[in-house]
Amino acid sequence: MTILLPQALRYPIELPEVTPTAAVPWDTIPSPAFVLDESRLRRNLALISQVQSHSGARIIVAFKGFSMFSTFPVMREYGISGATASSLNEALLARQEMRGEVHVYAPAYSEGEFPQILELANHLSFNSFSQWERFRPQVMAARQAGKHVQIGIRINPEYAEVETDLYNPAGPHSRLGVTRANFRPDLLDGVDGLHFHTLCESDAGALERTLEVVERNFGDYLPQMKWVNMGGGHLMTRQGYDTDRLIELVIAFRARWNLDVILEPGSAFGWQTGWLVSTVLDVVENGKRTALLDVSVSAHMPDVLEMPYRPGVLGAGLPGELGHDYLLGGTTCLAGDVIDEYAFDHALQVGERVIFDDMIHYTMVKTSFFNGVKHPDIGIWHADGTYELVREFGYDQFRAKLS
Ligand SMILES: Cc1ncc(COP(=O)(O)O)c(C=O)c1O
Repeated sequence: MTILLPQALRYPIELPEVTPTAAVPWDTIPSPAFVLDESRLRRNLALISQVQSHSGARIIVAFKGFSMFSTFPVMREYGISGATASSLNEALLARQEMRGEVHVYAPAYSEGEFPQILELANHLSFNSFSQWERFRPQVMAARQAGKHVQIGIRINPEYAEVETDLYNPAGPHSRLGVTRANFRPDLLDGVDGLHFHTLCESDAGALERTLEVVERNFGDYLPQMKWVNMGGGHLMTRQGYDTDRLIELVIAFRARWNLDVILEPGSAFGWQTGWLVSTVLDVVENGKRTALLDVSVSAHMPDVLEMPYRPGVLGAGLPGELGHDYLLGGTTCLAGDVIDEYAFDHALQVGERVIFDDMIHYTMVKTSFFNGVKHPDIGIWHADGTYELVREFGYDQFRAKLS
């Protein structure tokens, strides 16, 4: 173990070293493929597990952001054994593959799925008091029959730290969580905890400011709670994140209110843990040169279009920087299936690899078979320098979601 974070930390975090990207023999990895780097995942898990033990928070993984279940045995090595699911399918995955505590929160549950969700859940949070009232009889009956299930209500602190509307759960007219004005203290019988989620790729300062608002607006109800789930968005594995501040905030909050704290990040687990490997299939010219790749921005990196953002490409720079500029385009017929313009230090050749960086969290879980284009493999670059092809996708998987 090498200490990479400053020694001056009050809660020192020891991190293992990671494989340099230059050491990965990209040409030997079949393309296209999402490649998770085991050493980078271990680095994140080492950090998260130390934050967990220093702070006393329970840190579970949000499946919506990271649910690569072939890595769950590694996650368990670091004491990460709980997951938060946003649907029946994710709850089933949590039970079957994670085999730890199953937390569930969804903006609304359906009558059809609720009984199964209730059976699977250890913690179940409701987005509104109307949903809690609707399903309360089932919860109470299950408890009477011996089922241990903790119930939470998601609150909306109406305090936003996130500027992108698409990712701001505390924006105007948000449907996510109960506002102070709509809070129903009369319906708290049977409720064990409060849940809030308002952050996205945020630092500890954002959590501190949010907690001040939560305590000011919902502090009246905290003494009757057993736990508070502070949601996700805590990007503790990003370089420069103030882990000391997070740890101290959690310790102080737990002491102030005498309750348990749960954090459920997704991005922090998969942050900077791997790549999308692609190959140049053709180069076309129409005022600008476009390299056509064997991946699609629309089908394989939809956040690039939704957010939008410019993904990193290994060895590439900004247009004009390195002498050879290319738009990088995908293989679907969508005119906008174009990633951005990048500069390379040489003319791209057909068959050459183009590697997109940080393509694990949220990217892998959002892919589709649009146009029937080949879905990238999923593989792991192991810490011992070997490549494991975990899953390939073919016609059967494409056909399975059609009828
Ligand atoms: C309720 C809830 N919890 C946790 C998360 C995970 O957040 P992140 O991946 O930003 O850490 C999300 C993300 O949308 C969420 O909606």
